[in-house]
Amino acid sequence: MANARRLVAKANNANVGSLILMALVFGSCVANGEYLGGRRGLAANSGNPTVFDITKFGAKGDGSTNSFKAFLNTWIQVCDSPVPATLLVPKGEFLAGPVIFAGPCKSKITVEVQGTIIATTSGYATPEWFLFERVDDVLLTGTGTFHGKGEDVWKEDGCGKKVQCNLPPTSLKFRNMKNVEITGISSVNAKAFHMFLVKTDNVNIHNIKLIAPAESPNTDGIHLSNADNVSILDSTIATGDDCVSVGRGSNNVTVERVICGPGHGLSVGSLGKYKNEEDVSGIHVKNCTMIETDNGLRIKTWGGSGPSKATDIHFEDIIMQNVKNPIIIDQNYGSRGGDSQVAISDVLFKNVRGTTISKDVVQIMCSKSLPCKGVNVVNVNLNFVGKSGGKSASGSGDGLVGALCDNANVIFGGKLSFPMCNK
Ligand SMILES: *[C@@H]1O[C@H](CO)[C@@H](O)[C@H](O)[C@H]1NC(C)=O
Ligand SMILES: *[C@@H]1O[C@H](CO)[C@@H](O)[C@H](O)[C@H]1NC(C)=O
Ligand SMILES: *[C@@H]1O[C@H](CO)[C@@H](O)[C@H](O)[C@H]1NC(C)=O
Repeated sequence: MANARRLVAKANNANVGSLILMALVFGSCVANGEYLGGRRGLAANSGNPTVFDITKFGAKGDGSTNSFKAFLNTWIQVCDSPVPATLLVPKGEFLAGPVIFAGPCKSKITVEVQGTIIATTSGYATPEWFLFERVDDVLLTGTGTFHGKGEDVWKEDGCGKKVQCNLPPTSLKFRNMKNVEITGISSVNAKAFHMFLVKTDNVNIHNIKLIAPAESPNTDGIHLSNADNVSILDSTIATGDDCVSVGRGSNNVTVERVICGPGHGLSVGSLGKYKNEEDVSGIHVKNCTMIETDNGLRIKTWGGSGPSKATDIHFEDIIMQNVKNPIIIDQNYGSRGGDSQVAISDVLFKNVRGTTISKDVVQIMCSKSLPCKGVNVVNVNLNFVGKSGGKSASGSGDGLVGALCDNANVIFGGKLSFPMCNK
């Protein structure tokens, strides 16, 4: 936090220079006029928002000048505006990093990205590239792209499944915020997570694209931590780690019509990694498509965790193509020994169809001392299209296992394309 203040203060000193520069940039006035004319529908949401174009505050869309100060200078004006205001990133390639957009601000804010923002390779004091913090009522929109340049750092990351590891910066972090809408934008090659919501309430994400190669480490699409009232709709997430991961203390999360893959699938968890984690509830995943993901629908909790609850987790109407571990609850995630004390209950996997490349279609592996309660598997039709002799995640080896149920009284219903567990 001290860091944010310092950066903002520093940016302030550069203001005079930016204003002089602004007067000299004749071309951008025309560009701004076109912008207002052409996009009235978006910009005129509430009244007549003032548009602050970063190129008038010194940003250069040349792909090589670090424009982070211009972003901060522009933000100061936008955040201070008594009427709804827009921070505009016009077309062009803007190198920048890191950038903190801190509030509270005086009015509703729109950040509209038309161009491409490219992350610097180094210089990150805190683990985020763009951090939005303590700003309520924000709309992040546009057809532009946040390019994280992850390809420059992925090899050095080396975090894997280690308990202690400092991940490279998240591309877009939103912390301590409420009433946020994110739409239209793309995030490409994040250094680690594409998006991270922490302590947020009421966030609506729709029609976005998150893209990174299958082999890029820790590039989760959207990670949630203490996030309430989240909807993630109509988006495409092709990345190297979890598509959406719902972490500690998240409640009332809807994921609908999202296409995942490649990646590690839709996950609740991992839970129980830290002490005193808050409960998770009301996670509803509907009408999603998983393409060649390493897991499909997953709940994962750490072995040897502290106590918490994860309840009301429903996955419905899911299409899978060549998915490994399509349905999995793993309460022995990570490298720590001991039983998980995360109490899992009221879980539904319903109407799941398509193809799988692993023979263990359903793997329910719950905590020995705290068995899962109310796990329902209904109408699951997955054709095995993998090589014969595939190995399951649980290490059970060859053979068409169908379903595994450890420490759970799983209730099966409807039509199933595999033998259910006979416990
Ligand atoms: C859940 O969140 C949505 C917004 O995504 C909100 O409209 C709805 O009222 C919330 N429901 C509850 C029970 O809090
Ligand atoms: C979530 O949404 C509901 C319904 O709009 C609201 O009552 C609640 O306060 C919101 N926030 C949390 C933290 O549940
Ligand atoms: C999935 O989409 C179909 C078609 O729009 C709809 O009928 C169905 O209710 C949706 N499923 C859920 C769980 O909302």
